[in-house]
Amino acid sequence: MSKEVTFSIIKPNAVKKGVIGNIIEQFENAGLKIAAAKLTVISRKKCEEFYAEHKERPFFGELVDFMTSGPVVLMALSGEGAVLKNREIMGATDPKKAAPGTIRAKHGDSVGENAVHGSG
Ligand code: CMP
Repeated sequence: MSKEVTFSIIKPNAVKKGVIGNIIEQFENAGLKIAAAKLTVISRKKCEEFYAEHKERPFFGELVDFMTSGPVVLMALSGEGAVLKNREIMGATDPKKAAPGTIRAKHGDSVGENAVHGSG
């Protein structure tokens, strides 16, 4: 496996719950490094651009409302096989289906408010 960099967002529900540290710890314990991080509120325009692939989905408005509802943590994670590792640590999109111990199983509240986003 080669060294990769992958993008991660700690979503507003997780920031509100005060579990930024716990989530970062899970990434670090799995051997991923936080190569960059920024706490910020995403603008509606940026958020719509970021999730453009979901524009036609019925949940698009709800997704953008939620993702712009409060601060998020934008991060670059780096390490061997970071894309796959990040997916494994996050768990399935629906927290109810996420494997025990994964971030979404522990901190996700619903499919929309699922604590973290990850992209390759
Ligand atoms: P994320 O990894 O951020 O990528 C797209 C997001 O859309 C996804 O996580 C979910 O939070 C959200 N999403 C997917 N399906 C639904 C749904 N049925 N209802 C609400 N949000 C959804």
